Amino acid sequence: MDTPSRTQAGPDGTPKYALPPAIDLPNRQWPSKRHDHAPLWCSVDLRDGNQALPNPLTPSQKLEYFRLLCDIGFKHIEVGFPSASEDDFASVRSLIEDNHIPGDVFIMSLVQCRPHLIERTLESLVDAKQGIIHAYAATSDLHMQQVFRTDRKGAIDMVTQSVKQIREGCDSMLDGDIRFEFSPEEFTDTDPEFAVEICEAAFEAWGKGSVEKPVILNLPATVERRLPNQYADLIEWFCGKFSQRDKVLISLHAHNDQGMAVAATELALLAGADRVEGTLFGHGERTGNVDLVVVASNLFSCGIDTGLDFSDLPKVAGTVERLTGMPIYYRQPYAGRYAFTAFSGSHQDAIRKGIIKLNEAPDKFGVGWKVPYLHVDPDDLGRKFERLIRINSQSGKGGAVWVLEQDFGLEIPKDMHREVGQIVQVFADSASREISSEEVHQLFNEHFLNPEGPYELVGYWPRPDDADPTLIHGEVKIRIQGVEQDIVADGNGPISAFVHAMRAIDAPEFAIDDYHEQAVGKGAEATAMAFVPLRLPNGKVVYGAGADTNIDQAAVRAIVAGLNRMTTNENGK
Ligand code: KIV
Ligand code: ZN
Repeated sequence: MDTPSRTQAGPDGTPKYALPPAIDLPNRQWPSKRHDHAPLWCSVDLRDGNQALPNPLTPSQKLEYFRLLCDIGFKHIEVGFPSASEDDFASVRSLIEDNHIPGDVFIMSLVQCRPHLIERTLESLVDAKQGIIHAYAATSDLHMQQVFRTDRKGAIDMVTQSVKQIREGCDSMLDGDIRFEFSPEEFTDTDPEFAVEICEAAFEAWGKGSVEKPVILNLPATVERRLPNQYADLIEWFCGKFSQRDKVLISLHAHNDQGMAVAATELALLAGADRVEGTLFGHGERTGNVDLVVVASNLFSCGIDTGLDFSDLPKVAGTVERLTGMPIYYRQPYAGRYAFTAFSGSHQDAIRKGIIKLNEAPDKFGVGWKVPYLHVDPDDLGRKFERLIRINSQSGKGGAVWVLEQDFGLEIPKDMHREVGQIVQVFADSASREISSEEVHQLFNEHFLNPEGPYELVGYWPRPDDADPTLIHGEVKIRIQGVEQDIVADGNGPISAFVHAMRAIDAPEFAIDDYHEQAVGKGAEATAMAFVPLRLPNGKVVYGAGADTNIDQAAVRAIVAGLNRMTTNENGK
């Protein structure tokens, strides 16, 4: 028996799926446009987002969310579907009656084109200073025929009557500045000519659309069935076709069924749209609405002032996660836990170098931020205190050194990087997991600062000569294999006196050409840190590290650490 193909509907060969109809727009302009300003943003978190939550928000959660949206800077906020839910009705009333709405914010309520629902929606907005009534109607043949058993004429008649009812209700019941929005659903699956026709009818029926108080025509990709370029084509086509373009705001409302809502929205903005509806982190039906954090942050990363404040994105993300009960995906752009994290060695190395050389970016690239693998400064999103670089077996020397620099303030000399990286990598390999920055620090301490070995410094007293203060007499007390020895040696400085003292005992031969020292911490709490390379007669170099409140003492401890590493041959060379 033949198994039916997954792409065939039946034996007659009807395809199960087909490409959406092409859009005839030979002179499309949007592909050569560039973003140069932000759109008007409308959050639909409390309506489209909320209606798709397993546990819808309670009234007090809605209020907290509303406040968050206001703080971020949204001026249009869809607050619910008051005719469809008592909770929504009550929460709209409470926003108005308890004076929660800032003076520059328009609250928006969704309604279907049905008389009793319109009535209830009008009631919900009594005493609102600024509001938007958002009416929607099915305009795609699919919805009209299969769901509502109507046709194009029936849909136009219904929309015309409903919008007139809304206008009359606004005139008689509402004193505030009430605007009107209309959405033809599903716009992207609607015959474009019909979409224009029904939007013209809605505009006419409202009768009050003006340049100052434009009607909002929201053109939703209710289900993402097309490529982003086609959404852009439809928007550009619609903008060119609508008779009163200057008296309407063209609004986008993209869902993310094919994972391209952000792209669709950005291209459709190029195509002439004025406004974008969406939600924080893409909450919404099925795969969600377009994620406004991403769209806005993308524009921000191009230098555009978006009017939305995501400078503390972790706080916004934490609040939304708590209120919705839904975690944000680890790799979500901007907000995901790993959005700015590099695990791989080559990425870590490049990020570290890019950040160190950031001061060269303006001259070289004409911008203040140009860092490999980081298109935006995480700091601008409030992601200051987290680790950009995390360590596992894929990480390299750059990563380990970065962690020691950033988290512990250690300036590891360049020649040590390879060795530090190797030690960390061997450990990560055997651990088979991510390792913490404390573990990296501990490895550094175990291997460079306090390595095991035969030598244990008990004390070092360098004293200037009474007659010649440049001559130092160094008294060393050291245990070798547990046996204490006292040695005195001279040098032209405390370090050289100590090196000479080491030559007097049975220690491996070495020389020191130069060494690196730094202060870790500030003021009275500061510790001196020394990184000393011990050069062996065969040319090999073994590093030791030492810490003390005194820099000379730190250097001699580093020498002893180097001797121990050399003797136990744990220097990895
Ligand atoms: O996705 C959609 O079409 C909607 C409308 C109500 C605007 O949410
Ligand atoms: Zn929607």
